[in-house]
Amino acid sequence: ALWQSVISRVVPTQVSVKSLQPQASMFKVAILGAAGGIGQSLALLIKMSPLVSALHLYDIANVKGVAADLSHCNTPSQVLDFTGPAELANSLKGVDVVVIPAGVPRKPGMTRDDLFNINANIVKTLVEAVADNAPDAFIHIISNPVNSTVPIAAEVLKKKGVYNPTKLFGVTTLDVVRANTFVAQKKNLRLIDVDVPVVGGHSGITILPLLSKTRPSVTFTDEEVEELTVRIQNAGTEVVEAKAGAGSATLSMAYAAARFVESSLRALDGDGDVYECAYIQSELTELPFFASRVKLGRKGVEAVISADLQGLTEYEVKALEALKPELKASIEKGVGFAQKQE
Ligand code: NAI
Repeated sequence: ALWQSVISRVVPTQVSVKSLQPQASMFKVAILGAAGGIGQSLALLIKMSPLVSALHLYDIANVKGVAADLSHCNTPSQVLDFTGPAELANSLKGVDVVVIPAGVPRKPGMTRDDLFNINANIVKTLVEAVADNAPDAFIHIISNPVNSTVPIAAEVLKKKGVYNPTKLFGVTTLDVVRANTFVAQKKNLRLIDVDVPVVGGHSGITILPLLSKTRPSVTFTDEEVEELTVRIQNAGTEVVEAKAGAGSATLSMAYAAARFVESSLRALDGDGDVYECAYIQSELTELPFFASRVKLGRKGVEAVISADLQGLTEYEVKALEALKPELKASIEKGVGFAQKQE
């Protein structure tokens, strides 16, 4: 519904000059890793947002062409390109939201953690630049392994003295998007109505869809719960295998990331009714980082929706306990990496 309304606003059948005038509040968004599989599709979707005045595209290569191409779309935002470390700082100046999909994706047989060695350094370098040039921005981390790259980002921001835990997010929206799709298919529901909170982290068993909290309320057999949970947890691998070496999810990820960006912009714009799941610094469990539903506002996370973790089924309680050691280890790996980089 959101995107239908966005599309109808941005691509009206009768384009009037007035409808393309800038609105009162518009925001600047930067994408770091903008020439990649996720980056390009995400840039296109963000280019369609009526809430964006400028779209800054940064990558180490190939970003000029992407920006030239995108800039021909007659939507309000201005598109600017930035190539390589020398232009990174400028890509971040004055930006309200920074989205980071930079890094290598999985190939068949790889876990997200196999990407750690390469992506940890990329995220560290990019977040250092965010700390120096856009310390108040919302930061959306897409680069995997999210369970570790978000703690790395937090440590980098702390070292720079600008860490604001309410503005640092690991993007887990794709897990929610997948859960909504699979549940709607299985139960023959109207897709637009289905909302499944997904908590924990963003890898394997750390992805925990809370099917008992599905809205509208639905009942599942034990077999359905098991089948849906496993499918949601392995959905990324389903795509990696289907792409057979050509990468991981990019289109569905871009769709999910665009939804999270749009929600963030609506929150920045003062909308008081914005809720999303995200992986954040959290006190919901004993783990220092945890994905859950949060309320977004002008200052970032305004409230953590703790009710989702109350009244869980026996299956969910067990799955929650089972994911904690793996998530804890991934968090510690990220923190350890960042702390030994002096
Ligand atoms: P890709 O390889 O198509 O694109 C990555 C882009 O990052 C490339 O354009 C590359 O030039 C750029 N890049 C590399 N080093 C950089 C640096 N230091 N600074 C700026 N840009 C740099 O990969 P794809 O498919 O777009 O995936 C990107 C990341 O997103 C991967 O780590 C992948 O695992 C992750 N991902 C996360 C998901 C999530 O749900 N959070 C879902 C799917 C993918």
